[in-house]
Amino acid sequence: MVPLAIHEFKTHNLLRCSVDDMGMDVESIRKDFPILDRKLPNGKQLVYFDNAATSQKPQCVIDAMSEYYSEYNSNAHRANHTLADEATTALEGARKSISSFFGTSPEQMVYTSGATEAINLVSYGWARENLSSGDVIVLTEMEHHADIVPWQQLSKEKGVEVRYVPIDTDSFTLDMDAFEVAVSGASLVCVVHTSNVLGIRNPIERIVELSHSQGARVLLDCAQGAPHERISFDQSGVDFMAISAHKMGGPTGIGCLLVKRDAMEQMTPFMTGGSMIKTVSVEGSTFQEGHAMLETGTPRIAEAIGWGAAVEWLDRHDMKEIHSHINRIASWTAEQISEIDGITVYGDPTRGDSSGAVSFLHDSIQSQDLALLLDEGGFAVRTGHHCAQPLMDALGVPSTNRASFWLYNTMDEAEAFVEHLRYVVDRFSDK
Ligand SMILES: Cc1ncc(COP(=O)(O)O)c(C=O)c1O
Repeated sequence: MVPLAIHEFKTHNLLRCSVDDMGMDVESIRKDFPILDRKLPNGKQLVYFDNAATSQKPQCVIDAMSEYYSEYNSNAHRANHTLADEATTALEGARKSISSFFGTSPEQMVYTSGATEAINLVSYGWARENLSSGDVIVLTEMEHHADIVPWQQLSKEKGVEVRYVPIDTDSFTLDMDAFEVAVSGASLVCVVHTSNVLGIRNPIERIVELSHSQGARVLLDCAQGAPHERISFDQSGVDFMAISAHKMGGPTGIGCLLVKRDAMEQMTPFMTGGSMIKTVSVEGSTFQEGHAMLETGTPRIAEAIGWGAAVEWLDRHDMKEIHSHINRIASWTAEQISEIDGITVYGDPTRGDSSGAVSFLHDSIQSQDLALLLDEGGFAVRTGHHCAQPLMDALGVPSTNRASFWLYNTMDEAEAFVEHLRYVVDRFSDK
């Protein structure tokens, strides 16, 4: 066990972060995120490398939510007064911006609390109605728990078979030969667009083609893909897409499920109550149609407005440029830290399609201890099983540390991180 109370870390200099080599003006992007100037209680400058857990929010998102609460806070879709009208217009305006950002129409979008609820909505609102004992659901070993547990529950209740596609632990990619076998006779394929641990983007186009050739519907978990790549729902051909706002500059507490028209027609309500009904009498109730049937109770108005502001902000940037910027930082960091004694990197951040998550483990400093030692230097990274225990089992590790980057991170921060990690390993490993 290493001692954790250490105070001798150097203060890193992170002031040099102007224009990225790829032409992205990172310095002006950083100005939109006041939190990035924060100093930690020990006086260290914050370096935020936990973006795959949740991203920071640009000021315009904070302002849009605060403006709603201070100027037109009201319930939506209910009353006829001015404030109610403004709230409804803003809520539905956000739906238009968000659905258009994801290349589809507002009718295909159901607001949820995040990607987890979106996946549960497919499980409760579509699969319980359309699958029965003996039907097959295909998952992968690299799914987040959000895309595993709902299917295990369904399997217990309905007797559907769940098949897991393994990963190749040398390349950290999905075993596509095994996928071809697993998909045979399947009704639903649930797959993560980009792994939150490995940063690997799956071959979605091939997965959709193979799944549809078997008549299986596809649910794509885009919680990690959406902050890094411009994804078009309509062009992707997938049947369901789960998206989380808080990893792409939006607030926590909101996300959505995008649903193909014909799949929407097969859905039944997941939760019932106000808003989603047409009529209610003591004899029974009738329901709205489409997305309106799947959204119950008071909507997440402030959160939707915040997310709308986030996609409008992101839309002003070139996602390809963002991706190359992040990729450059991630691949450089991975290469550097893999040369540090005792460190193994899981995943291949040097791949052009990586999302910028760099997972690593030291062979003698436990991941929790390492995270605290990094935090002492100002560096925020994630530690643990990352809600991906089956993947940890496949990799043969209990947990990893993960540095994950977004558009406001800089090479200077990465350099300071590598320097600090080298120092920590040198000072605390059992050599
Ligand atoms: C791949 C993946 N899927 C699903 C989720 C859950 O998303 P949410 O927090 O929006 O429920 C996460 C969150 O970390 C994730 O990384």
